[in-house]
Amino acid sequence: MKILLLGSGGREHAIARALSQDPELSELLIAPGNPATAALGTNIELDILDPEAVAAVAQREQVDLVVVGPEAPLVAGVADAVREAGIAVFGPGGQAAQLEGSKAFAKEVMQLAGVPTAEARVCTTLDEAAAALDEFGAPHVVKDDGLAGGKGVVVTSDRAEALAHAEACLAKPDGQIVIEDYLDGPEVSLFCVCDGVNVLPLEPAQDFKRAYDGDEGLNTGGMGAYSPLPWAPADLSKEVVETVARPVVDEMARRGTPFIGLLYCGLALTSRGLRVVEFNVRFGDPETQSVLARLRTPLAQLLYAAAIGELPDQLEWSDEAAVTVVLAASGYPASPKLGDPITGLDEAEQVEGAHVIHAGTALKDGELVSAGGRVLATVGLGKDIDAARARAYEAMSHIKLDGSHHRSDIAANVARLQAGQADQQTG
Ligand code: GLY
Repeated sequence: MKILLLGSGGREHAIARALSQDPELSELLIAPGNPATAALGTNIELDILDPEAVAAVAQREQVDLVVVGPEAPLVAGVADAVREAGIAVFGPGGQAAQLEGSKAFAKEVMQLAGVPTAEARVCTTLDEAAAALDEFGAPHVVKDDGLAGGKGVVVTSDRAEALAHAEACLAKPDGQIVIEDYLDGPEVSLFCVCDGVNVLPLEPAQDFKRAYDGDEGLNTGGMGAYSPLPWAPADLSKEVVETVARPVVDEMARRGTPFIGLLYCGLALTSRGLRVVEFNVRFGDPETQSVLARLRTPLAQLLYAAAIGELPDQLEWSDEAAVTVVLAASGYPASPKLGDPITGLDEAEQVEGAHVIHAGTALKDGELVSAGGRVLATVGLGKDIDAARARAYEAMSHIKLDGSHHRSDIAANVARLQAGQADQQTG
């Protein structure tokens, strides 16, 4: 199978790594890719936001499948163009991608499909926003309606900060925001592979969005993740499929815009039950780095099956746990410093049960340098979360990048919880 994968971040390196382990894969093209994906296939130049250009390359290269990594090409209609060219594509069309492209659209679909989510108000003026903030009270949740590159959501108890974010979003052309009731409880990311009709959940993961230990600092794209979730209810995935993913997939099919691709259900397990925080229409980053490291079902075959409407009934998983720790550039997330040399990757890769995923890296005069806010991640696999995180952190200890930072508490609480449970069983 020949595959064209679109994207260049850590998620795409993790996807490329899993695709290249599938014996059915014969050739992998990545557009534009990064220095690490170049070792797994061929990086090619292509404007991935141009639907016709992507379809033309897919045809010229006679690929069997296109896998779209990020959300922006999906919202731009890349999957529609590839499908119209008669090529299988893993990723929803532009209409279905509005589940991520517009928070207001996602709320409308959830309401029609009876999916549990926070109460919300769609606002187009500052007066409406102020009224909605007062109606729901603190903590305030203000979401830019459209795609905002991970900077669209502000959660704060400071009303002035909430209002300032609302004002900034509303100042954009056709600016619209969604203000919601705050959802308490732990958050979970559950990725569902969908073929337009059927839904197959991957194993749940949790990510860490704040920049610093103890959930301090600004929101980021994600500073780490782990999977599985030993503390989560055993029937969580089943409940999410029944109450969230399948109703949404049914509603999208009913509208004539079937959802084919990855439905990322961002959930809060609140004291009042499970609620949807957000949908994304692509794999999450960095959760994918942990989830795909544990998937035993060959990924190329799985994504192709979804793309042609023949999703299998079940998946195979490793019994091991996976922990991902992200290394961010100095100044990230506010103003990351780029272009600094990165060393120690070979030593990190030699740590047993660990590997490195590139996100924002580039080659400059033959030297690996930082080229993005989230630079790379280490992924550790182990018999439990504690063993996996020990490997991820050991690998991270070898990597040097001036001024960089990473959290030291990724999955720490859950590792302690697991250790306590083991003590109880043996004691
Ligand atoms: N980890 C959050 C996201 O991928 O949007």
